[in-house]
Formats: sequence, structure tokens, C-alpha cells
Amino acid sequence: MAEYLIAGNWKMNGLRTELVEAEKTAAEEIADNCSVLICPPAVLLPQMTALLDGSKVRLGAQDCHPEDSGAFTGDISAPMLAESGASYVIVGHSERRLSYRESNNLVRRKMQAAWRAGLTAILCVGETETERNSGHAHAVVGQQFAECAPEDSTADKLVIAYEPVWAIGTGRSASGEEIADMHGFLREEASRHFGPGQEIPILYGGSVKGDNAAEIFSIADVNGALVGGASLRAADFIRIIRSVPVAQA
Ligand code: PGA
Repeated sequence: MAEYLIAGNWKMNGLRTELVEAEKTAAEEIADNCSVLICPPAVLLPQMTALLDGSKVRLGAQDCHPEDSGAFTGDISAPMLAESGASYVIVGHSERRLSYRESNNLVRRKMQAAWRAGLTAILCVGETETERNSGHAHAVVGQQFAECAPEDSTADKLVIAYEPVWAIGTGRSASGEEIADMHGFLREEASRHFGPGQEIPILYGGSVKGDNAAEIFSIADVNGALVGGASLRAADFIRIIRSVPVAQA
């Protein structure tokens, strides 16, 4: 797999008229050591699948239900997302943890549903500002990781996204030291739980932009980014994609 994954999370943004932004991203030449993923609102997946056919850009969804089907009004299951062209799904985003009170146990069941459908799960973890200021960042993130990631997690079906809640959508990214510290911690936790051979990709998310991406990608144990706001405009997103370090020959 490519060494860097750049994933754009459009959240509840994007109408059909804005698909041109995905088209522009798909036209960009993407380096061999980089994978690009766009996670649009689920209703756009079928159309984007057709639009991105033949391009290197892959598609993901922003959430899934833990069951494969049933009487769950308004929800969307992992098999439906896979059928609509998604190969990834984000689970446990802090906006869902906070707005819909999603528990670690629910997030874990969503991951298992994603895997049953053949999707790679992007598991979001991250502490609030209060948790960081009281010295509990590692404890919170470690617990989220341990309780959400199933025992049979492997590098080909799990991506971790460290997203400090206080850095999301605020324009205030975590510092290089904070990112290095938490990614190193998550790398250790992943190898403690699943064995040192599992090089599970760890993305950073929270106010990643064209002008801080290169610095973030140079930090040890950062394997890419989960990008919100700056993924909505192709020009901004492409700047981030171009910030991926050139592969060593
Ligand atoms: P942001 O969002 O890039 O707008 O901070 C990141 C995310 O929520 O994944």
C-alpha cells in the first residue's frame, strides 16, 4: 500500500453541482507513494463512482450502521455503501461521538460491520481540550483505541485517525510535538495489541491545510491526513496532496 493516505471528509457539504471539485482532484497526478480518498455525503457515492472511474481517487463514506439491514429508519448500512462504490468508511468521528453520543462499543460494532462488507475502517480517536489540559490525553485516546478496535484488526482493514477535538475546524492544528507524541503512543498501542508486524496507518486530522501539511507529513509515524474543511476546494486539497514527501528511490 502507498505510504501516505490523504482522505477528504466532506461532512454534510457537497451538492451535485460541486462534484466538479472531485473531478479536478481526480485530474491531478498523484504520486505512487500516495493514496487519495474522498468521503462525500453517501447520496453522492454512486455518481462519484461513475465520475472517478479510471482515476486514482478512491471513495469512502462518513459513517455506517452496525447492522447489515433492518428496521433502522434513516440509517445506511455498510453493504449499501460498498455497493455504492465506497471502499472505506470513517467510524467514530468526534462529531458523531458528541452529537449522537456514539459509544466506543457502538463504534466497534460499526467497524465489524464495515469489515463484513469488505470496507476498510478509518477509526477516529481524539481527546477534548479539557481532557488534554487535565493531562488525560493518552488515557482517553488509549481507551478509545482499545475499546473500539477489534482483536482481529490488521493493517489492511484498519486506519487510525488521531483527531484532537479541539483542533477540528478551529484553524488551530496540534503542534508537531503533540502530533509526534500521540502518534508514537498509538503506534506502540497498536503493536502491543496486534503485534509489531502490523504497520497500521495512522493519519492526523484537525485543521490540516496546504500551508501546514508538509510539516505534518514530515513527523514520524504520520502516514497521512484526514482533512475536513480544506478538502472541499480541489485547489486546497491538491496542495495537501502535493505536500506528501517524495518517495526515496
Ligand atoms: P478540519 O476537520 O480539517 O476541518 O479540521 C477534520 C475532520 O473533522 O476530520
